[in-house]
Amino acid sequence: MENKITFKDIVNYSSNIFNGKFIPFLKSEINDSDIKKLFRKMKEGKVTNNYNDQLYNFLKKYYNYNRDVFLTNSGRDALYYLLLNLNFNKKEIIIPSYSCLGLIEPILQLNFKPHFIDIDKSLNPSLESIKKAINVNTAAVIIPHLGGTFAKDTLKIISLCKKKKIIVIEDCCQSFGLKINNKQVGTFADFSFFSSGVGKPVFTPLGGWVLTKKGFFKKFMQPTSKIQSTIDDEYRNYKKFVKRYSDNPFQVFKNIATDKINSYFDGSKRSFFSMKEQKEPRQVFNNLNAYIILDQLKRLEQKLIKRKQIAYKWSQKLKNNKKVQLIASTNSIYNKFYVCSEKNEKKRFLLKGWEVENGYTPLHLRYDFDKFKSADLKITNKLWQKIYSLPVRPSLDLNII
Ligand SMILES: Cc1ncc(COP(=O)(O)O)c(C=O)c1O
Repeated sequence: MENKITFKDIVNYSSNIFNGKFIPFLKSEINDSDIKKLFRKMKEGKVTNNYNDQLYNFLKKYYNYNRDVFLTNSGRDALYYLLLNLNFNKKEIIIPSYSCLGLIEPILQLNFKPHFIDIDKSLNPSLESIKKAINVNTAAVIIPHLGGTFAKDTLKIISLCKKKKIIVIEDCCQSFGLKINNKQVGTFADFSFFSSGVGKPVFTPLGGWVLTKKGFFKKFMQPTSKIQSTIDDEYRNYKKFVKRYSDNPFQVFKNIATDKINSYFDGSKRSFFSMKEQKEPRQVFNNLNAYIILDQLKRLEQKLIKRKQIAYKWSQKLKNNKKVQLIASTNSIYNKFYVCSEKNEKKRFLLKGWEVENGYTPLHLRYDFDKFKSADLKITNKLWQKIYSLPVRPSLDLNII
C-alpha cells in the first residue's frame, strides 16, 4: 500500500464516515436520558442526594479507607494541587518526554522545571534513564502507567528514590482500575493522581482526584467549594461533551479538522503559555458531574472485562501480521491498545473506517520545551512516529473486529 495520502484515499475515508462505516476512537457511553431527567429534577429542587459526598465515599471505600482522597476537576488539577501541597524547595520534576500536555502543564504553572527521561518498550519510564537524570535538584519522579499498562519498574524506581529522598508520584490518569497482585495502581507510591476526563477509563466531561498516604497532609490546600460551577454550567458542558463524542458524521468531520489545526500549533516552537490562558485551577465540580462520574465508576468493572475481550481479539487478529508490533503487555486494563508500525499499516486501518489515535509527539519536540533538560531519549526518538492506538472502548461490538 502507498504511504502517501491520495485523493482517492480522502474520498474513501469520507464515504466511510457518511455511510456509517466509520468507527470513532471515542464515543460517549453516558446514558443521556438519565442525565436529562436528573438535570430537570435538580432544577426543580427535587434532588436531595449529595453525589459529591457519595463519590468521595465510593473512592474511600475503593481504597479500603487506607488513603486520603481529594476531588479535583481534572487530572492536571490533581497534579497541580498535589505539587502545591508537597511544597518542595527543589525545582526539577522528572517525567517521560513521551507524555501529554496535561502532565507538563501543572509543572510549569507552579514554576517547576521538567526533566525529560526516556521510555522502555512498553512506553513507560525507563529506570536507566531516571538514574541518569536524577541530580541534586530533583524534587520528584512521576511514573505514568501509560495506556493503562503497569510501569514495570515501579518498585525499583520507588526504592531508588527512597534512598535518595526523592518523592515518587504515580500518574494513574489512564490506569484507574488496574490491580497488580490485588493492589490498586496508585497505592504503590505514597502519592498519585487520577482523571475521569476524556478518553480515560472513567470517561466523563471532567473530574479527577489526588490520592495520598493516609494522614500525610494535616491540611490540604484545594479548590474551594465556594467557586463551584452551577448546575446550568455543568449541563451545558455535558451537552457539548455528548455532541463532541457522538458518531454524527458532520461532528466527526469537524473533530478531524479541529485536531489537524491544533496539531499545527504544537510544532510551532512558541511558548506554551502564549497559546493558553495561564489560570490557577480553582473550580470544583457540582452535584450533576459528581453523579455522572459516580455512575460511570460503578460500571467500571464491567467495562474492564469488555476492554480485555477487545484487546484479546485485536491480539488474535494481528498475531500473524509481522508489520504490526503489539505494545500492551498483560499487566494492563487496555485503556489504549498501543501498536507500532510503519505509516502504510496505519493507513490500512484508517481506510477500513477504524479511527486510530496517534501516539504523542514527545514533549521535547513541542512548543519551546526543548529548552528543558533531557536524559538520553533514544527509544522515544526511535519509536514515537510509529505508535498509535487501536480502538478499545467498551461499547465496541466485538464482532466487528
Ligand atoms: C497520562 C496522563 N497524565 C495526565 C493527564 C491529564 O489529565 P486531564 O486531561 O484530566 O487533566 C492525562 C490526560 O490526558 C494523561 O493521559
